[in-house]
Amino acid sequence: SLPQKVKIVEVGPRDGLQNEKENVPADVKIELVNRLTAAGFANIEAASFVSPKWVPQMATSAEVMAGIARKPGVIYSALTPNMQGFEAALAAGAHEVVIFGAASEAFSQRNINCSIAESITRFEPVAKAAKEHGLRLRASVSTAFGCPYQGEVPLESVAYVVARMRDLGCDEIDIADTIGVATPRKAQAVMQAAIGEFRIDGLSGHFHDTYGQALANIYAALELGITIFHSSVSGLGGCPYAKGATGNVATEDVVYMMNGLGIETGIDLDAVVDAGAFISQFLGRKGASRAGNALLAK
Ligand code: HMG
Ligand code: MG
Repeated sequence: SLPQKVKIVEVGPRDGLQNEKENVPADVKIELVNRLTAAGFANIEAASFVSPKWVPQMATSAEVMAGIARKPGVIYSALTPNMQGFEAALAAGAHEVVIFGAASEAFSQRNINCSIAESITRFEPVAKAAKEHGLRLRASVSTAFGCPYQGEVPLESVAYVVARMRDLGCDEIDIADTIGVATPRKAQAVMQAAIGEFRIDGLSGHFHDTYGQALANIYAALELGITIFHSSVSGLGGCPYAKGATGNVATEDVVYMMNGLGIETGIDLDAVVDAGAFISQFLGRKGASRAGNALLAK
């Protein structure tokens, strides 16, 4: 049987917007986060404290974190690849910091400019500092289902990186399909490899929708008992270090599916659709959520 309740982590303001070529001003990001807060998310990935030379769109992260209207109990997360990022996230009042590694060596080099082993060493002080300051610690494992540079990623590599993230004391670990190549049985095999190394209730599925497989993969993960999923309002995004990759699965589509399955999310679908319409209008294009567009056309 499927879980009765899931947590949907909204990553649009970070994973979605990080890839936009046009500058999205801080006040637009703040308005988006505020709308998502009002829609009922318990966890919103709002910022990324990475090098502005690598990801210019995230350079306004401190301003965004300072400007949002925080709702008590909601976790606002920020990416922190190293101690410099951690200090910035701490100063900005992030509740949760996210270290991000990869299951493929090639992607680790392209995305964070170091090997997997070096990345774990770099994350150690971040993990320690997070604990010291009482912040939640989450890890993201990119290219767990396939890599744009090396192709196949062995299940053993996923298990290895998940185990290292566990050893760092992570509260939650994301298994990420960076380029959206997984199909449902593959999704289950990879999630099983992760389940072998970490508490199932701390694992999340982070599916990009490049090949239109994300909802099917989420369903496949639900069948295993996974209860945390990432999605991006209006299907925003892509990854700057994964050419051709599209956004995360659209939040509206995930909430619509969960509603239909009778799985509780705590999220108001109409409010997410409105937030999606707001950001799509700003970006000057039609949103990428099928459910969102259908509901807007009603
Ligand atoms: P590096 O060049 O090896 O680092 O980059 P460095 O320590 O040698 O520093 C170089 C310069 O960057 C220095 O500045 C530092 O101050 C600065 P300079 O002296 O040249 O003027 N710097 C920073 N500035 C601001 N904040 C920081 C920071 N760190 C260094 N935290 C580094 C290494 C990791 C910093 C770099 O590679 C980087 O920023 N990468 C970002 C990659 C990224 O953001 N990718 C997208 C997010 S991951 C993702 O989307 C995947 C995910 O969604 C899951 C999935 O779908 O797979 C999570
Ligand atoms: Mg991603």
